[in-house]
Amino acid sequence: MYVLGIETSCDETGIAVFESSSGLLAHKVHSQIETHKVYGGVIPELASRDHIRWIDPLVKETLKTAGINIRTLSGIGYTAGPGLLGALLVGSSYGRSLGFFLGIPSLGIHHMEGHLLSPVMENSAITPPFMALLVSGGHTELVYVLRAGQYHRIGYTLDDAAGEAFDKIAKLLGLGYPGGPKLSRLAEKGNSERFRFSRPMTDKPGFNFSFSGLKTQVVMKARSLNQQNMLNEQAKADIAAGFEAAVVDTLIIKCRRSLQVTMCKQLVVSGGVSANSNLRKQLILLEKEGINIAFPSLEFCTDNGAMIAYAAHERLRKGQNNNSLEINVKPRWLLDEL
Ligand code: KG4
Ligand code: ZN
Repeated sequence: MYVLGIETSCDETGIAVFESSSGLLAHKVHSQIETHKVYGGVIPELASRDHIRWIDPLVKETLKTAGINIRTLSGIGYTAGPGLLGALLVGSSYGRSLGFFLGIPSLGIHHMEGHLLSPVMENSAITPPFMALLVSGGHTELVYVLRAGQYHRIGYTLDDAAGEAFDKIAKLLGLGYPGGPKLSRLAEKGNSERFRFSRPMTDKPGFNFSFSGLKTQVVMKARSLNQQNMLNEQAKADIAAGFEAAVVDTLIIKCRRSLQVTMCKQLVVSGGVSANSNLRKQLILLEKEGINIAFPSLEFCTDNGAMIAYAAHERLRKGQNNNSLEINVKPRWLLDEL
């Protein structure tokens, strides 16, 4: 089975072909960083227009790299949500129309299922039950995966997502967009002990997160240093390191707690923030506690078409199908609703 994956939920156009026995045959990503960086964040209308510009050439290029003809495709998966409405409509209209034209099934895929399965795509030995920590720009969730395709969100953020908090603090420190990787690089030069920020909600039972109070603490600290003329480059790096340490510690504490309660020995961590090297270093330490940790390769942490192709392949393999002509996108869509 040859499955084409199409990802257009936000600011990356991602296209891939996944094949049942050989795995991933090709994947291409066009990033819109250049389009949005002058504005300091994603402009939805510009994102949609850029997806329209790139989707077709990228599909052609990906098929060429995969060495297959478009008629070889046996199924299509496209991101149907959650994400930006206009951006989702581009990939969904393209995917459904192409499926109709080729006479093959096309399926709307949940973006976070794609992220969640990206480590499984690279390592088929990972089988349920397992815990998943999803950390991206729009989501921070702890998901208990009891069976393939069945997701129980046991924890989620009450306000900002971890990646969103990274982006906002990066903006505050003048680092620009996309902020997460830049903040993380700055943190490497800083002392995480100089400013101690709180580890939100870790003193409360349960698995939920909240990063907006932490963000305010960091903003207040930066402001007070600025008023004293002390917000120099080292202070910025120390703030970045202190903030990153607080987010990482919080995520680790909640992961450990969820593993204890569910008695899972396997944790997968995915989404854009799973590229963070400090988070990876701290998570690996859980292996000493008998936990098996899996991350995607760096190229599959942030948005890509490969994870969508793989998620669609798994669903099509089980006979899930949708032949209606309706184009249905869900900008808000919970994983538990799958
Ligand atoms: O998964 P993703 O590409 O898009 C969403 O589905 O949201 O995640 C993007 C998020 C952004 O907030 C970005 O700043 C963050 O992931 N991110 C990072 C790193 N790389 C990407 N955050 C912290 N450290 C990184 N190295
Ligand atoms: Zn994503």
